Amino acid sequence: MENHADVLLSIQQIYKEFSGVRVLNDINIDISTGEVFGILGENGAGKSTLLKIICGVYTPTGGTITLKGKVVSITTPMIAKRLGISMIPQEFNLIPTLTVFENIFLGSEIRNGLFLNKREMREKTRLLLNDLKTELSPEALISNLSVAEKQMVEIAKALVHESDILIMDEPTTVLTTVEVKILFDLIERLKEKNVTILFISHKLNEVKKICDRILVLRDGDQICVNDVEDVDEQDMAKKMVGRELSQVFPIKSYPESQEVLRVDNLSDAKLLDDISFSLNKGELLGFSGLIGAGRTEMAECIMGLRQRNSGDIYVNGEKARIDSSSDALKYKLAYLSEDRKGKGLLMNFGMPENISLISLAKYSNLFINKKREKQSSENYSKQFNIKAASLKAELDYFSGGNQQKVYLAKWMDTDPFILILDEPTRGIDVNAKKEIYHFINSLVTQGVSCILISSELEEIIGLCTRVLVMRDGKITGEMEGDRINEEEIMFSAAGVRQTNQQEKDLHA
Ligand SMILES: Nc1ncnc2c1ncn2[C@@H]1O[C@H](COP(=O)(O)OP(=O)(O)OP(=O)(O)O)[C@@H](O)[C@H]1O
Ligand SMILES: [Mg+2]
Repeated sequence: MENHADVLLSIQQIYKEFSGVRVLNDINIDISTGEVFGILGENGAGKSTLLKIICGVYTPTGGTITLKGKVVSITTPMIAKRLGISMIPQEFNLIPTLTVFENIFLGSEIRNGLFLNKREMREKTRLLLNDLKTELSPEALISNLSVAEKQMVEIAKALVHESDILIMDEPTTVLTTVEVKILFDLIERLKEKNVTILFISHKLNEVKKICDRILVLRDGDQICVNDVEDVDEQDMAKKMVGRELSQVFPIKSYPESQEVLRVDNLSDAKLLDDISFSLNKGELLGFSGLIGAGRTEMAECIMGLRQRNSGDIYVNGEKARIDSSSDALKYKLAYLSEDRKGKGLLMNFGMPENISLISLAKYSNLFINKKREKQSSENYSKQFNIKAASLKAELDYFSGGNQQKVYLAKWMDTDPFILILDEPTRGIDVNAKKEIYHFINSLVTQGVSCILISSELEEIIGLCTRVLVMRDGKITGEMEGDRINEEEIMFSAAGVRQTNQQEKDLHA
């Protein structure tokens, strides 16, 4: 692998400090033309920081970067683009009030003399989206898109520049198996065109599948660089965490027979069609389905965040009136949205303010009790192993996974009685995932009832005692106990049985 004639990008003794705190330490790697290079590490290990240095978002405190044999100084993303480096960022950078094609060409508009050539930009966008096999319209407004669709737009936006180096910071966290497969096919095609890809993911099976080599970072240190053939998922996890990882999934706890939530014939104007189900005390009920199946819409309808056309909701046997999130809170219902940044967190405030935002009553009589706020932040940061320079720092400065942990803590703090978790472990590292699984399990053991919406089949199968599957706004399958398995879930979700080969392709 180490053939120096092939070296495209060489990182020598790179380190990075933020306000004197070192977050990246002495990184030395050589990356070859056309390889897919994976970067692994726990939340806050320094992965995004390293890639942001390569694409000009951050300037390194020290060290050199050599591209095609020449030392380069990549001080802005514009310079990176000119050098042939583009990035799909971890956090979306799209402008909600503009359309898909306007976002894709933002800053590199095609012009006809003085005028924008909208026709060509639209057409190019359509071709890119075709390549990504999505049915998104170039004219769609970003604010109307789901997180998965936004992710597809970010990918298209990076592809438009036809770069030599394409940086992907967790591109798959919000995608389901089908879209991941599309993305991976695309990566294979790019590789054939000699495009080099730097790829961050917490999904170790994906890393194993798509990468040629991996770098493991721990607390900003370079732990190792390996050919992917030489390591399995277990080894990767061990190198990331620095020790053996014990049982990831807790022993399942079975619910009581008392019904706490019932949804009867729920429909909305667009997608949801006659959804009925019930949830028992201490139950962990999974919801599976492909993107667009309507799981998030269903949760939003139950929580009063989206208009219902028909349907009744019963909490503890009594008909509930839930037309807003404050109504939901009165019934002790909590909903952790899949869109933490768009619908959840205040990015320019610290952790204490974010935690107390919803459960404000708990922290104030006349004034907000800052000491209590701080205390609970510290407790949660211990519980979920939240890592940041300071808990009071703006959330913008937290790593992606650590932001997600703050978001989880914020909802836990409302002491919910019924909790809907929509993709709760998005961007969370293997070790922290385990902590969160055990935490959710301890909640249900204490009698809290949970609905888990997740695109990670492993998570649904490993945690839930019952699973409902949705397709096109309807419930199409139900499984319980030993009958919960991948094949049946995929069948109900997609409506067709995968042939053995397709099945293998999809999950290999
Ligand atoms: N702009 C910044 N100012 C101050 N500290 C920062 C800034 N950006 C990142 N950090 C800190 O640097 C460390 C590494 O963060 P980074 O985002 O690189 O982690 P990561 O490995 O990508 O984690 P994740 O898996 O959660 O995305 C973290 O402790 C983070 O708080
Ligand atoms: Mg990151």
